[in-house]
Amino acid sequence: MTRPQIEVFVCMNVNCRSRGAQATLERLKRQLKDRGMEHVKPASIICFAACNVGPNIVIPSRRCWLSGVLPEDVPDVVAYLEGQADVAHLQQHNDPALEEMIFDTIDAGLLDKGESE
Ligand code: FES
Repeated sequence: MTRPQIEVFVCMNVNCRSRGAQATLERLKRQLKDRGMEHVKPASIICFAACNVGPNIVIPSRRCWLSGVLPEDVPDVVAYLEGQADVAHLQQHNDPALEEMIFDTIDAGLLDKGESE
């Protein structure tokens, strides 16, 4: 059975990158591969305008924004993608107005997407 594709956007702009976003993305890609989750497609994004609470990850199909995501949080993110974990602890710094803006930007197709990883 083919599973629906899930895009996972990881900010790779300067602020998030300086806080470990590259290591987070690499660990995410490795864990997804190890678990056979090829239907989950990580992609680099150039800024969600939520720089002060980064590193940021957004999963559009779940209307889910995760902030302050460090490499050690990746197992929780993967478990969430598998439907087996709550990620509220990675949303405690989210600003509701900014969250609405992020999803409005995505819905309008205005997000500066990089290549799928
Ligand atoms: S640098 Fe990541 S949200 Fe701006």
